[in-house]
Amino acid sequence: MIAYSFEPLGDHDRSSFSCGIPELDDYLRLRANQEAKRKVAAPFVMVDQGRRILAITHSLLTGFASPVAARSRQEIARYPLIPATLLGRLAVGREHHGQKLGSLLLMDALHRSWKNSAQIASVGVVAEAINESARKFYLHHESFLFWSIRVS
Ligand SMILES: CC(C)(COP(=O)(O)OP(=O)(O)OC[C@H]1O[C@@H](n2cnc3c(N)ncnc32)[C@H](O)[C@@H]1OP(=O)(O)O)[C@@H](O)C(=O)NCCC(=O)NCCS
Repeated sequence: MIAYSFEPLGDHDRSSFSCGIPELDDYLRLRANQEAKRKVAAPFVMVDQGRRILAITHSLLTGFASPVAARSRQEIARYPLIPATLLGRLAVGREHHGQKLGSLLLMDALHRSWKNSAQIASVGVVAEAINESARKFYLHHESFLFWSIRVS
C-alpha cells in the first residue's frame, strides 16, 4: 500500500506526471498553478512521502446548476438554479492506475466539498467527465455522488 497525503497544488514537481491523457497532463504542467493563484480553481494533489505527485483533482469550483439537469431531490426541484460544487477532471498517474487511487481521490474531493458546504451553500457535486470512460468511472461511484454526471 502506498503512503499518501493530499495537499493543495504548490511547488510540486509536475514535469514527470502523466495520466495518459495529454490534455489533462498539459493542464497540470501549464495551467493548474496559474489557476490556483488566480483562485479560479482549487487543484489538489495526492502525493507520496517524497512529495511526488501520484494523482490530481484538477478543480473544485462553486457555481450554479439546473435542478433539471441535475437529478435533483424533490425539495430543491422548485429552485430555478441551485448552488453546486463542480468537480473538474481528476487524474491518476499511469503507473498507479488500478490501485484504487482514483476512488480515494474522488472520496477526498467529495469530502472537501461536503465540509465546505457548511459555510458556502452547495447542495451537491456535479462531476464533469472528459470522455465516455471517465463517465463510466463516475457512474461506478454514483452512489457517492449526490446527483447526475455531466459529460463535457
Ligand atoms: C479514471 C481514473 C481516474 C481511474 O483511476 P484508478 O486509480 O485507475 O481507478 P481505481 O483503481 O481507483 O478504480 C476504482 C474502481 O473504479 C473502477 N473503474 C476504474 N476506472 C473505470 C472506468 N473507466 N470505468 C468504469 N469503472 C472504472 C474500478 O474497476 C474499481 O472498481 P471496484 O472498486 O469495484 O473494484 C484513471 O484511470 C485516470 O486517471 N485516467 C485518465 C484520466 C481520466 O480519465 N480521468 C477521469 C475524470 S475526467
